[in-house]
Amino acid sequence: MPLHSYEPRQGHRLPHDPFNAIVGPRPIGWISSISSSGVLNLAPYSFFNAFNYVPPIVGFASVGRKDSLNNIEATGEFVWNLASESLAEAMNQSCAAVGPEVNEFELAGLATEPSHLVRPPRVQASLVTMECRCTQIVQLQTAQGTQVPTWLVLGEVVKVHIDEQLLQDGIYQTAAGKPLLRGGGPGDYFTISEAGKFVMRRPT
Ligand SMILES: Cc1cc2nc3c(=O)[nH]c(=O)nc-3n(C[C@H](O)[C@H](O)[C@H](O)COP(=O)(O)O)c2cc1C
Repeated sequence: MPLHSYEPRQGHRLPHDPFNAIVGPRPIGWISSISSSGVLNLAPYSFFNAFNYVPPIVGFASVGRKDSLNNIEATGEFVWNLASESLAEAMNQSCAAVGPEVNEFELAGLATEPSHLVRPPRVQASLVTMECRCTQIVQLQTAQGTQVPTWLVLGEVVKVHIDEQLLQDGIYQTAAGKPLLRGGGPGDYFTISEAGKFVMRRPT
């Protein structure tokens, strides 16, 4: 089979960069934060994932200096909110490139719910939310050691809130949360369903 091979530094020679279509679909880090002057902020980040079990640690990458990064640097706190299919439009509106004085909860017509342990509020309509305290902010670099204007923001999850309708006999049902997943291109998303699930245990 012929291969399309390329060195990213020299360009991909395709109509669209396939990188984030290949590394996909990705869960969305819908991140709420608060500025030091008290302005609320909400934005989606698909360079997002979980990195540890105990303590649970999640992280997202800010490609460029953005309000979420600035807020978390200043206050040390953020909240992850589950972006379910029914919240797709609101999630999308919350990514608008607006100034730090704009509250994206208001922009997207979303009600807030106070957090228990951190100052940034939660998205009231989100079925799962996780309150986080920032643990590290790591600026990325190239293989040559040149700094890249991208920052990985990591945070310890200090409180989790799960809508009980997502628990079946105490087991969290991933598909029931209808998480929005980001693919590639300018606007590809995926959804998951119970039908797409299969179970495979690790070798013992
Ligand atoms: C689904 C989705 C995923 C996104 N993922 C990222 C990401 O991983 N990193 C990033 O820097 N921007 C990402 N963006 C763009 C940011 O949401 C956008 O720049 C936003 O304005 C940043 O908000 P803030 O300045 O309030 O933090 C994404 C946008 C969408 C809609």
